[in-house]
Amino acid sequence: MKILMVCLGNICRSPLAEGIMKTKLPSGFFVDSAGTISMHEGEHPDKRAIKTAANHGIDISKQRSRPITRKDFENFDLIYCMDIDIYGDVVSKTHSEEERQKVFLFLEAAGNHENAEVPDPYWGDMNDFEDVYQLLDNACNIIRNQIVI
Ligand code: 4NP
Repeated sequence: MKILMVCLGNICRSPLAEGIMKTKLPSGFFVDSAGTISMHEGEHPDKRAIKTAANHGIDISKQRSRPITRKDFENFDLIYCMDIDIYGDVVSKTHSEEERQKVFLFLEAAGNHENAEVPDPYWGDMNDFEDVYQLLDNACNIIRNQIVI
């Protein structure tokens, strides 16, 4: 089972989601992340995301930002998007119903239908990063229970 976490820049939200999800899944699962823009391609995650993950014992410092590619729609089974704009953008890149059915709004898939967006902490402070961490950690627990038999 291959899971792709997607946000805008692939330096804040999806690297955290990747790092958290990896700690919760047994072997046989593969988790990666990508962005919808290539502006930060090749960069490590935002220092605040690295610090927030480190505060919870998770090392995301070696990740590198990359944009989502056409191949991702073939390679991955589940593609989780961090907000509604990202979801729309990713769905618009699909080429078939089969591909479209792999794409989910992450928090909605985790049962949060009212407020299904992971807020972008990029313009915020460390408290915003910690809030995002907690949102992602809860959602990862729920998704893990859905996909691990
Ligand atoms: P992310 O956050 O999508 O969670 O990685 C952002 C990263 C970069 C920018 C915006 C959001 N940016 O405008 O460069």
